Amino acid sequence: MSEHFIIKGLAGKKTLAGEITIVGAKNAALKAIAASVLFKTPLHLSNVPHIEDVSRILDILTEMGGSAMFADHEVKVDARKLATNTLTPEISKRLRASIVLTGPILARYGRVQFPHPGGCVIGERPIDLFIEGYKKMGATITKKGKFYDIVAPKGGLRGAEIFFRLASVTGTETFMMAATLAKGTTVIKNAAMEPEIAWLADVLNASGAKIEGAGTPIITVKGGSPLAQKQGKAFRIVPDRIEAGSFLILGALAAKKLTLRSVVPEHLGSLIELLSYAGTDVEIGKDFITVKNSGQKNNKQKELRAVPLRTHEYPGFPTDLQAPMMIYLTQSTGESLVFETIFEGRLSYTESLNRMGANITMMDPHRVRVVGPSKLKGRLLESPDLRAGLAFVIAGAIASGVSEIHNVYNIDRGYEDIERRLRGIGLDIVRVGE
Ligand code: EPZ
Repeated sequence: MSEHFIIKGLAGKKTLAGEITIVGAKNAALKAIAASVLFKTPLHLSNVPHIEDVSRILDILTEMGGSAMFADHEVKVDARKLATNTLTPEISKRLRASIVLTGPILARYGRVQFPHPGGCVIGERPIDLFIEGYKKMGATITKKGKFYDIVAPKGGLRGAEIFFRLASVTGTETFMMAATLAKGTTVIKNAAMEPEIAWLADVLNASGAKIEGAGTPIITVKGGSPLAQKQGKAFRIVPDRIEAGSFLILGALAAKKLTLRSVVPEHLGSLIELLSYAGTDVEIGKDFITVKNSGQKNNKQKELRAVPLRTHEYPGFPTDLQAPMMIYLTQSTGESLVFETIFEGRLSYTESLNRMGANITMMDPHRVRVVGPSKLKGRLLESPDLRAGLAFVIAGAIASGVSEIHNVYNIDRGYEDIERRLRGIGLDIVRVGE
């Protein structure tokens, strides 16, 4: 049954107020759950977000013979005895992140079979870096149609030097995990530096792995035996910087005062820098961030500055915040050039914003020009992917009139209980079943 959101827009008024507690990061939880395959103990995680993608990756592991418990933001997953090497095609085809399971399964069991995880609206999503990396570790690859069958050499994967021609996030995580059980040492060069990678390395090192350099472009892993979690203490998922950034942008555009609790401010450095430069009043605490629009002179709309935006691997501006930030730029005075350097299909949602009254011109698949400010009008919108979906929620919140946002499954993939949490700060948003 597909559902949709109905949002009554604020028509530019900045009346949202209150606090939102940020939950654990989707893109850390998914990899920690995949890491359970490397363990000779069950793996216990806390602060796990209740989102669809977490349920899907747990479904894959249970379909493969593992067991999992997921309640009250805690996951206990036991993937020590999988009955098959094959990732469940129906689920893994729709979940790009399932690719991170291939490394631990190949490293632990010596073989993995899976369908190409499929492109999605933001781009073709090739996996050539994974195939090349497994070959370097001694594996043989057979491809039948869209199905891959990868077999480790006798004696298991061998440590190798892997140079990523692109600093792939899941590529870095997958090979960092696989290397913990390989024979010998693996060096990953041009590694991604997202904070979730350093967090994952801490989890693995606390369980017996020998990983150095996570969070820098060169990661060295000394292979060893299956990992073990020390009893009693769950690993706490790091806060979701992308969820936090999305709400920060909403607050900048529509809140009198909004505080985000349990965040790691330094994980949001590039966004905070950009928002402050563009004229938003941001206060940074140890584990909170407050954005406010109070004290406007005679309640006049404070002018926001148009700024050029270029997405970049961490610590640059995250591609996952490009769509939410686009809404901000439609409200900024002047012309902004947005350059989406990571994905070739991640700007098509902007035509929906033009239907709301934005003035965005596609220059090429990677660049658009935004001229603002524009008054947005509520419209019927379909969320194409989870980040553009959240951007549509922000657009609906600041527009005049009513917006309907369909395909909310895409938003539920990455944002826990979103309408309840936004109602909590004063947004008029309801979920309607179809
Ligand atoms: C991760 O995707 C995130 N997903 C994405 O978040 C995020 O947008 C992306 O990193 C970039 O930050 C998860 O962590 C589950 P990449 P990933 O490999 O690892 C190309 C979200 O909304 N490439 O860093 O798949 C690729 O096409 C999602 O939570 C190859 O060419 O992204 C892209 O152009 C969306 N060959 C570039 O590298 C490969 O084998 C960077 O992609 C792999 C990737």
